[in-house]
Amino acid sequence: MSKEYEIGMIGLGVMGRNLSLNIADHGFAIAGYDKDKRRVQQLQTEAAQKTVQGVKSLEEFVTLLHQPRAVMMLVPAGKIVDNVIRDLLPHLQRGDLIIDAGNSHFKDTNLRAQALEEKGIQFLGVGISGGEEGARRGPSIMPGGPKDAYERVRKIFEAVAAHVNGDPCVTYLGPGSAGHYVKMVHNGIEYGLMQLIAETYDVMKRGLGMSDDDLHPVYEQWNTGELNSFLLEITAQIFSQTDPGTGKKLIDVILDEAKQKGTGMWTSQDAMDVQVPVPTIDVAVAMRNLSAYKSEREQASQTLVRPIRSYQGDRDKFLNQLRDALYVGMIVAYAQGMAELRKASEVFKYNLKLEEVARIWRGGCIIRAALLENIRAAYHQQPDLPNLLLDPDLGNVVIARQENLRAVIGAAATLGLAVPALAVSLAYFDAYRSAWMPANLIQAQRDDFGAHTYERVDEKGVFHTEWGTE
Ligand code: 6PG
Repeated sequence: MSKEYEIGMIGLGVMGRNLSLNIADHGFAIAGYDKDKRRVQQLQTEAAQKTVQGVKSLEEFVTLLHQPRAVMMLVPAGKIVDNVIRDLLPHLQRGDLIIDAGNSHFKDTNLRAQALEEKGIQFLGVGISGGEEGARRGPSIMPGGPKDAYERVRKIFEAVAAHVNGDPCVTYLGPGSAGHYVKMVHNGIEYGLMQLIAETYDVMKRGLGMSDDDLHPVYEQWNTGELNSFLLEITAQIFSQTDPGTGKKLIDVILDEAKQKGTGMWTSQDAMDVQVPVPTIDVAVAMRNLSAYKSEREQASQTLVRPIRSYQGDRDKFLNQLRDALYVGMIVAYAQGMAELRKASEVFKYNLKLEEVARIWRGGCIIRAALLENIRAAYHQQPDLPNLLLDPDLGNVVIARQENLRAVIGAAATLGLAVPALAVSLAYFDAYRSAWMPANLIQAQRDDFGAHTYERVDEKGVFHTEWGTE
């Protein structure tokens, strides 16, 4: 075969295959390789007349690629990424480029980048969001690594990414693991938003006694306004889906145990490391974990009895309050994620431009939402904004709707429904806007039991007191 392929793809699962077809749709010649020969065949079948070549051996794969080569891999995060790199390396030459487009942990990306740099191989860690459909029709792409390496594939990325008002949802984010860090936080926000939506579902289902048929139009209507977002769109759709086997609504035959691949947990873990509070995301991870304790929950439901009450007030008014509560929760979830990115950018020297992050999340990705336009505008006004809640426009939105969030949380507590993401979002807001916190007591306690010292409000320095003696 004489044709030179501009890029290669290793890993032809549904994401790798769809992205390859997307790349070919835009006129780039791409060679695809997978250990599983059926997947290679599948790519070939789906490729039809396109400039895609499925290959069954790694040797042949590398010979097809234009030199210096650009090899993208879309394989499950973890050991497999290292195995693919190990197998690929003997076939590569100095100056070739490897692109890891999976959900790798950013610390792994740093290690891989360093090891490959020593061998003269360039490495990009690229987050891709949008699921199967996004990969096929236009994802949001979050690249990090050496700028010149990005320039080599920029044309391809810009062509295949989702576009919003003609703007591609991709940009160079920063060095090293910047791309994978941004993707990780994207997923943390995703967890937060999903939990917030799930709480509104619970309040409406068990608190208001609404059926799936009632829920569908509510989410559909919410999705038309300021809450407009991909996650609300699919939520509305989910409530109208029937299970062909049982004839019931599919949602009602799905087990209430949420799985996870870990990226939301990583967001929380690293937020702890860089010391940024992201409690809405933390609680979303915790609730997925709690959902997995199904048998314990079943047992506890028999012993810790307190029937769920049904809401007695004005239902339409309450639905409006619930919509506002969700909107505030969403703003707080983004605020926490963006605050984590801001701090991580300092710590890891990513030099992230948060306006650009918001811009490339407006299309293609799972957390795309109308709100991202407001977030982008906020960082446009103040690139170094410490927290989105300090943006005058977003701050005013939260101030104007806070009473509705309080009303919902109060009602949920009375009904006996858990709304931890809504509740902790409000607590975060109340604590963040509080010039005084009861942390002076914590300082006093630490000094009392451990002589850890404290600072004073009226004098500089550190102090210790022999507590209990005057
Ligand atoms: C995306 C998604 C995706 C994610 C899974 C769900 O941006 O396209 O975030 O990357 O891995 O769809 O992740 P969990 O299994 O952790 O829920």
